Amino acid sequence: MNQSSLFSELSKNWWNKNSSLKSLHAINKTRVEYILINSGKLLKNKTLLDVACGGGILTASVANAFRHTTGIDINEKLIAVSKNKIKDMGIENTSFVCEDFFNFDTDETYDFVCLFEIIEHVANPMKLLEKAKSLLSKNGVIYLSCINKTFISKILTIHLAENLGIIPKGTHDFNLYKTPHELKKIIDQLNLNLKDIQGVKYNPLNNIASFSDDTSVNYFMKITK
Ligand SMILES: C[S@@+](CC[C@H](N)C(=O)[O-])C[C@H]1O[C@@H](n2cnc3c(N)ncnc32)[C@H](O)[C@@H]1O
Repeated sequence: MNQSSLFSELSKNWWNKNSSLKSLHAINKTRVEYILINSGKLLKNKTLLDVACGGGILTASVANAFRHTTGIDINEKLIAVSKNKIKDMGIENTSFVCEDFFNFDTDETYDFVCLFEIIEHVANPMKLLEKAKSLLSKNGVIYLSCINKTFISKILTIHLAENLGIIPKGTHDFNLYKTPHELKKIIDQLNLNLKDIQGVKYNPLNNIASFSDDTSVNYFMKITK
């Protein structure tokens, strides 16, 4: 099954916290915390773009903190899931776009552009970050997550997680994982500034994700213009 069909299949259970997406829901709590801790005050005046928003887990979780939140995803079924969820939750300051992010054409800029669980799914991370930069407002911030390209991440996120059903089979391609050093090189080439790297660990035994000094598996970054 290719990635697009996999995500369409997963759309049915996207918000089921006991499904094979439970780790995504667990890790989402740390993403929300990371964004809110690092974004300063007056968020009610600010806008956020959630790139590759999937079924809207992050979009819906942060929407109330911002003036306006936009989610964009290439997958029609996932955008439908996002729209339904936002409606059910009574959230009104959020919109969704169903489009390939690389073709997203808008006059808007955003105070925050989020790239969670997408860098390790694209062949050209430089192009992704360049596009994100082009959509940033003057003092804008990019937040991203990535899976490190290490032996331990391969064992944990592919061999164990996929084979034990903790995450769906075929979710990840080790060749697309990036080390923080590789991303830092791209960030420098784009004249962006890496402000923070935060390790994140996930314990499948209790389904709890937490911040960690260890970046060898999952990590977040805060990047400014
Ligand atoms: C692993 S899911 C992550 C979903 C969401 N970011 C989250 O973490 O809750 C990856 C998502 O990237 C989307 N995607 C992949 N390539 C894309 C592109 N070029 N433009 C927009 N969305 C894309 C897929 O449709 C899928 O929803």
